[in-house]
Amino acid sequence: MGKMILQAKNINKSFSNGKTKLSVLRDFSLDAEAGQIITIMGQSGSGKTTALNILGTLDQFDSGELTISGRQVQSMNETELSKIRNRDIGFVFQFHHLLPEFSAIENILMPTWINRKVDNTEYALDLIDKMGLTNRKDHFPSQLSGGERSRVAVARALMNKPKLVLADEPTGNLDEKNANKLIDLLGQINKDFQQAIVLTTHNPQVARIGHKQYILENGALSKKV
Ligand SMILES: Nc1ncnc2c1ncn2[C@@H]1O[C@H](COP(=O)(O)OP(=O)(O)O)[C@@H](O)[C@H]1O
Ligand SMILES: [Mg+2]
Repeated sequence: MGKMILQAKNINKSFSNGKTKLSVLRDFSLDAEAGQIITIMGQSGSGKTTALNILGTLDQFDSGELTISGRQVQSMNETELSKIRNRDIGFVFQFHHLLPEFSAIENILMPTWINRKVDNTEYALDLIDKMGLTNRKDHFPSQLSGGERSRVAVARALMNKPKLVLADEPTGNLDEKNANKLIDLLGQINKDFQQAIVLTTHNPQVARIGHKQYILENGALSKKV
């Protein structure tokens, strides 16, 4: 069994819009070990993004427990949270949020600029090579295809060597060929670096790369059959 990276236990989360309260997560529980890919399928609005935001400490929850790398998230202050976010977690968003005025390699190096002063260009070039982007590294996001942008976003997420990668519908706006390529790469980096990966998707074929495959329904996970 791999080292436990992430433990969410009976997480509850609701949003209130004025008078009405919308309960999104209800006793949501999930464990992720090093090296494990976990996929979560669910209809639009089922709470996938909410769940990943909470697992990534980007959003707060109402009750429950969240442990990342053995540390309880609910007892951390904002400084500790941002440290764990930068050091231990890599995010891949559906719309990748690349900065348009920076080149591919600059976008990939961005997390290291925020974090540390050391020069990590060599490692960035390594990731760029792995992602098949070597001849695109100086291009700006507007000069890249959707698939290339997604791969830049994955490389950026890996830059700080996170223990946990959270990917929210990373193939959501890709055609099948690019989706498959991204999934292959995620599988490969998971083998190489042994991160825990939690990935949400609409696509049953993408969900199949999960060592554990779940469906998010009525606010909680059930095993995919
Ligand atoms: N900040 C928010 N305020 C109020 N409601 C929200 C907020 N974020 C999400 N929701 C609602 O929570 C539900 C789950 O949303 P989301 O997690 O984005 O689902 P998914 O990613 O599975 O499509 C939706 O009904 C959505 O409208
Ligand atoms: Mg979503």
